[in-house]
Amino acid sequence: MGRTPSKPGAKPDFGHSPETLAFWRQQIRSALNSGATTPFYLFSAEPVAEVLAGLDALELARPVVHWLSTKTQPLPALLNWWRRQGRPAEVVSELEFRQVAEAGFETGSILVNGPAKHAWLPALSRPGLRVNFDSLRELTELLPLARRDRWRVGLRLCTSEEYDPESPEFPTQFGLTPEEAGQAVRRLKRVGLPIETLHVHLRTQVASADCYGRALSEVATFSEANGLLPRYLDVGGGWPARHTLGRGGRRLDAGFSAAAFALAVRQAMKRFPTVEALWMENGRHVAAGSGVLVITVLDVKERRGLRQLICDGGRTLNALVSVWEQHELLPLEHRSGAEGLTAVYGPTCMAFDQLGRRAMPRSIRPGDRLIWFDAGAYHLPWETRFSHDLAEVWWQEGQELGRVRARSTRAE
Ligand SMILES: Cc1ncc(COP(=O)(O)O)c(C=O)c1O
Repeated sequence: MGRTPSKPGAKPDFGHSPETLAFWRQQIRSALNSGATTPFYLFSAEPVAEVLAGLDALELARPVVHWLSTKTQPLPALLNWWRRQGRPAEVVSELEFRQVAEAGFETGSILVNGPAKHAWLPALSRPGLRVNFDSLRELTELLPLARRDRWRVGLRLCTSEEYDPESPEFPTQFGLTPEEAGQAVRRLKRVGLPIETLHVHLRTQVASADCYGRALSEVATFSEANGLLPRYLDVGGGWPARHTLGRGGRRLDAGFSAAAFALAVRQAMKRFPTVEALWMENGRHVAAGSGVLVITVLDVKERRGLRQLICDGGRTLNALVSVWEQHELLPLEHRSGAEGLTAVYGPTCMAFDQLGRRAMPRSIRPGDRLIWFDAGAYHLPWETRFSHDLAEVWWQEGQELGRVRARSTRAE
């Protein structure tokens, strides 16, 4: 009964350099030697520094400020590292706000974004906070506080380039339409609060840089029509993760050109003479490569031509993004010889709990460790406790390597 699985096809190409693979293997071995037990995440500052250096080398006509997208990787060790680099952080929830405040970010280095923040921000307001308004209701509810504490405010605009990626005919729920934003401008003018920032965030895994140019052109038209003199242009995040494939097998960054992005921004900047700095809030592009998930094969089955590896970590617990992304998945131990179509599962009782299905060496056996690469974005925030505890977390920075989160137990 049932269908026979297809034969192993061409191996997906994730495009990692041999040095990157060797770096992670070495760090994982060190963590194991220091007592790490699977499943565990291992994160490092070095890949983040490398991506930021690439972004900083772009010529974007104005100085660029990179805001840490805290929701992408809310890891205290990363927050501390980021702050020590003199870089600021963007938050969209009370939890994130408290995390960055605890990590020592000063008020001027915290940017509050996201919808419905009138529900939680009043309790945390402080003088000089940077806040991008997302709706007219938010503005109504928060305006007295904004005036009292002289917030440095911005508007998130919903341009026609922002839509639900799964149903492109529908807009997202974020930001203000041009009509709403026009009303917001008038209300802020009446109370004498200058609009310092104009903000867009198009969506995630943006496939081509062209849409940034079109969105910024809409923002410029709005700004000119309303006589605004913005100091900052916040283009949000959305750059695709590197070394990651969509379910169809294509690299998610295959059609995204950093040079085309830079050109679009340089063009757009001609219409923003008062803008002093460009703000970016890339999440997955910056953080995805900064971590791996390490799991152990617990059991091996074979049925209807499919080899099945059942492991102590997987999609349900640690890697929800495997629903829509394919990541490199390699054994830590050297395993060679004939390959067969292999599915890698987590330990939960969910058929859904599958990290990937592709050709892998048939010599992989129980006790082997597998590495799921590029686990630095949206893994920690989406991990679950489904039937199991949360995984250990390890952090590497320079010569330092240590456990920064123990395996948590149900009682916690
Ligand atoms: C306002 C804002 N900025 C930045 C990001 C980071 O997005 P990405 O990881 O796609 O770069 C998000 C993600 O949802 C967001 O909502």
